[in-house]
Amino acid sequence: MTTESRVDELMSAPPLVDAPDLLRADNITKSYGPTPVLRNVTMHLRKGEVLGLVGDNGAGKSTFIKILAGFHQPTSGTMTWEGRPIVFRSPLDARAHGVETVYQDLALINDLTVFQNMFLGREPLMRVGGVGLPFTNNGLMKRQTRTYLSQLGINLPAVSRKVGDLSGGQRQSIAVARAMQSNPKLLIMDEPLAALGVREGALVLGLVQELRRHREVSIILIVHNYSQVFEVCDRINFLHTGEVVLDVDTDQTSEEELIRIVKSGLGRAAIADAVAGASI
Ligand SMILES: Nc1ncnc2c1ncn2[C@@H]1O[C@H](COP(=O)(O)OP(=O)(O)OP(=O)(O)O)[C@@H](O)[C@H]1O
Ligand SMILES: [Mg+2]
Repeated sequence: MTTESRVDELMSAPPLVDAPDLLRADNITKSYGPTPVLRNVTMHLRKGEVLGLVGDNGAGKSTFIKILAGFHQPTSGTMTWEGRPIVFRSPLDARAHGVETVYQDLALINDLTVFQNMFLGREPLMRVGGVGLPFTNNGLMKRQTRTYLSQLGINLPAVSRKVGDLSGGQRQSIAVARAMQSNPKLLIMDEPLAALGVREGALVLGLVQELRRHREVSIILIVHNYSQVFEVCDRINFLHTGEVVLDVDTDQTSEEELIRIVKSGLGRAAIADAVAGASI
């Protein structure tokens, strides 16, 4: 892709005008033992916004999104969903409210085909002539999978291919597509680009960019590579030893500056100083 066309792609995401918050997390603390893993994490996410959650290994990123996904309960703190207080008691509860999560292991079954993975656990059934034992309606699943993937701009060789035969980027795209089938309000992706090469990563970033363009789903993206964050995110939250130490719009900073801030030391005070002294 040329620089120009990439810029065009970036520019084509409409600005978030007056978008209300979908989610707020206030003073979330989580301890597994005596040491807190999250310390008073406060975060908000607007409708249609793409938020990049960055930070070192062990900073607490996955722990935090698992709380948002109902997988863990916070030790203390509160959450607000569409303006109302909420407690997600389980992943099922969070999903019922419109939270979908794509974990790093993707939870796809490699021995099944693309369309079988897309319909896993909710296969449409049919009976020949309306009688006898029901069996899965493969034709319908294939057709719907093809339509759905092409709507998301995902090109795959064939929906009857086993998922295990596809590339990492294609698998990641299928996991995202599956999560998007229920029309979630919040899509959480934990390191979707890890272990992907440049081309494969671009495939997944393109998909995120496509979703961002429509502004219909809010996205939290955990990414380690800052240039990828700048490519698709509206805002960045930097988590360091269980605290959000930086919350900044991507158009108010740059990759170079983020690196400089990170190098300046990661305490809250050091970051505040670095931001104050920056010529953005
Ligand atoms: N179930 C658990 N029990 C005890 N400690 C845990 C548990 N899950 C995570 N931790 C600890 O919490 C801390 C934060 O882990 P977490 O996985 O949230 O970090 P992360 O920011 O996602 O890191 P990475 O970038 O490596 O994925 C780590 O010190 C980890 O060892
Ligand atoms: Mg993690």
